Amino acid sequence: METKNIGLRGIEVADTRISNIDGERGRLIYRGYDILDLTKNSTFEETAYLLLYDELPTKGKLDEFNAKLVDARFIPKQMQKNMGNWRKDADPMDMLQAFVAALAGYYDEEFANKEASYDKAINIIAKVPTIIASWNRIRNGLDIVDPDASLSHAANFLYMMSGEKPDPEVEKIFDVCLILHADHTFNASTFTARQVASTRAHMYSACSAAIGALSGELHGGANTEVMKMLLDIENIEKAEDWVKEKIAKEERIMGMGHAVYKTYDPRAQVLKELSRKLAEKTKDPWFAITEKVEMATIAEIKSQKNRDIYPNVDLYSASLYYMLKIPMDLNTPIFAISRVVGWAAHIIEEKFAEAAPKPALYRPKASYVGKYCGPEGCEYKTLDLRK
Ligand SMILES: CC(C)(COP(=O)(O)OP(=O)(O)OC[C@H]1O[C@@H](n2cnc3c(N)ncnc32)[C@H](O)[C@@H]1OP(=O)(O)O)[C@@H](O)C(=O)NCCC(=O)NCCS
Repeated sequence: METKNIGLRGIEVADTRISNIDGERGRLIYRGYDILDLTKNSTFEETAYLLLYDELPTKGKLDEFNAKLVDARFIPKQMQKNMGNWRKDADPMDMLQAFVAALAGYYDEEFANKEASYDKAINIIAKVPTIIASWNRIRNGLDIVDPDASLSHAANFLYMMSGEKPDPEVEKIFDVCLILHADHTFNASTFTARQVASTRAHMYSACSAAIGALSGELHGGANTEVMKMLLDIENIEKAEDWVKEKIAKEERIMGMGHAVYKTYDPRAQVLKELSRKLAEKTKDPWFAITEKVEMATIAEIKSQKNRDIYPNVDLYSASLYYMLKIPMDLNTPIFAISRVVGWAAHIIEEKFAEAAPKPALYRPKASYVGKYCGPEGCEYKTLDLRK
């Protein structure tokens, strides 16, 4: 029997009002608004409100939302104490997954109430940066930096991570990165979040599961792998041969290719320009090497497979974060700082969608290809009879 729908590619499994990708034209829309417009005119907080509540906030609503986010930034001291027991070289994504799940042990979860779910969403969105920054300080033997209520979501994370308040240019760059990563329809982690929510599990559980999905190198983990690749290439002169060798061995070039975009990922376009500008200032080689990797991959895939390939969101975010002096293994957790907004919006939609068809418990079919001894099943032999 031929297995159908491998990886669910092209299969529509639910209706959503949250975001839309036009893979042919390279456009990403959040609640009706083009991502490029949002990066130019909006902030992460405003975009988060839009994704959660289906409309751009008024000034009053945004102030109220910001105040709730700022209030919820602190995490329990006991949690920070527990982090101290972890191996200092533990993967920050493992730590994040565990501590987001652990939030359920400190804060109650109201299952059946949409308003309460928004409060949980705000609680998680506000606390994810604090969890990551606290862990980064603890593992480096540094004092934890408490959140600063006067700073934006973007600036506050950079401050808690490094102990230094970022300049406005760096804050803006990071804010744009957060806007760009906030949602992306039914990607692997969002689908995971929705799937868990479809069982009526609570929001901490669904977000924690989504973090697990995001950690893999074919999804959010790709940006860390891109930076490892750049460090391995080291010198622009080596980039082309490096790419050719990998493709000859049928290995993947991280940060290239996308399951949905058939043209340039609009997020990669924005990140490429930000990375270019930052490199002009810092004189780092990483942007130039990345661009060479992009060109070499496009040329090699065309000549080897007669196929078009384009950068995805992870290609240029890697060099950008490196130049912002963000530790390499925090690239994927930073993705989570932003994507948790999308997860929360999808979890709420999954649980409380009002229009038909309403979401249902996900339960795909599998194509069984295992042992078969006839309709009665295989004969069970006790241990002493098995050879
Ligand atoms: C993201 C990804 C899984 C999407 O894959 P996809 O569109 O389903 O495409 P497939 O995996 O079916 O690959 C299609 C072909 O392009 C090639 N290809 C796709 N991405 C490639 C990459 N990054 N490097 C080299 N070749 C690649 C594959 O080898 C395959 O060739 P084949 O048909 O000869 O086997 C894939 O592009 C990838 O692995 N990229 C690297 C990881 C990454 O950056 N992930 C972050 C995604 S946002």
